[in-house]
Amino acid sequence: MAAHNSLMNDAPLAPIAFAEFVRGLPKAELHMHIEGSLEPELMFALAKRNGITLPFASVEEIRAAYDFSNLQDFLDIYYQGAGVLITEADFKDLALAYFQRLAADGGTHAEIFFDPQTHTDRGIAFDTVMNGLLAGMDEAEKTLGVTSKLILCFLRHLSEDAAFETLEQAKPWLAKLAGVGLDSSEVGHPPAKFARVLQASRDLGLKVVAHAGEEGPPAYVWEAIDLVKVDRIDHGNRALEDETLTARLVKDGITLTVCPLSNLKLCGVPSLDVHPLKRMLDLGLKATVNSDDPAYFGGYLLENYLATAGAVGLTRDDIVTLAKNSFAGSFLSEGEKAERIAGVEAYAAAH
Ligand code: HPA
Ligand code: ZN
Repeated sequence: MAAHNSLMNDAPLAPIAFAEFVRGLPKAELHMHIEGSLEPELMFALAKRNGITLPFASVEEIRAAYDFSNLQDFLDIYYQGAGVLITEADFKDLALAYFQRLAADGGTHAEIFFDPQTHTDRGIAFDTVMNGLLAGMDEAEKTLGVTSKLILCFLRHLSEDAAFETLEQAKPWLAKLAGVGLDSSEVGHPPAKFARVLQASRDLGLKVVAHAGEEGPPAYVWEAIDLVKVDRIDHGNRALEDETLTARLVKDGITLTVCPLSNLKLCGVPSLDVHPLKRMLDLGLKATVNSDDPAYFGGYLLENYLATAGAVGLTRDDIVTLAKNSFAGSFLSEGEKAERIAGVEAYAAAH
């Protein structure tokens, strides 16, 4: 038996295409808004189930409307789309549909954002959102083997008081939440506006992340690390405009959850070939690849890896580094991280 095994191990491996290598590589997704994974087909199905009339006649008409010049353009349509989510079953179906796409892309772990205020402000109970998402996460782990964590995002275009109210609603659910984040309209709503509610969240044992440097200036990234003391930066692209800041992010090993197709769709970069991902890796930044709002930006996790690899010339080693960074930057325990990273290394060694 031993001789047979060693023969098998010595046999040359059939070359597999680059895309298949990346698909099979275990990967975590750390920046994905679950409401942003609502595909037009599901949006229509849920609208029908809930007796809601959409301002679009067809799936094609919805897709045609996904032509954005900036973050706000996108947010307006994204909040409108989320209006079809009413029941626990809707949130569960939404989450499961995402995890199925993630599993097909070789994703094995996800830390997903949700925006409770988008739902509570239109009369949906906080508990409905939580029960639905958690049911989807549980089923994904059982049926797909994909693990996940939840990150509650405060909408930064709303007030600090509203964020504190949301944190109060989250208190019975603390054991089910990994952390809190800041999303929505960045410019004009710096991290400092939410420093107190983010500190209160940390005091409750939650991790803290913030979108910073997506459209906002390097000063917002400075605030996120120095004032808010975030555990990760979501996006962080504009940090590269400030050399001292870049050096600090490298020195502290702060994970950046970069979203290349999102940056392209929201016109943060004019084309993918000038996307800074390769530069980030070469500078030693702990960059990761993520899909942000995949139903709106034209690609899930694998497509973000492949499109960017083709456009900026990521090497096989770069891809392996990105996958390792995705687990190292996750909120899994240190033991789990080490295990997952060993899995990435074993896969890379075997292919
Ligand atoms: N940026 C900020 N807020 C968001 C995003 C984004 O890409 N997606 C959903 N909320
Ligand atoms: Zn985002």
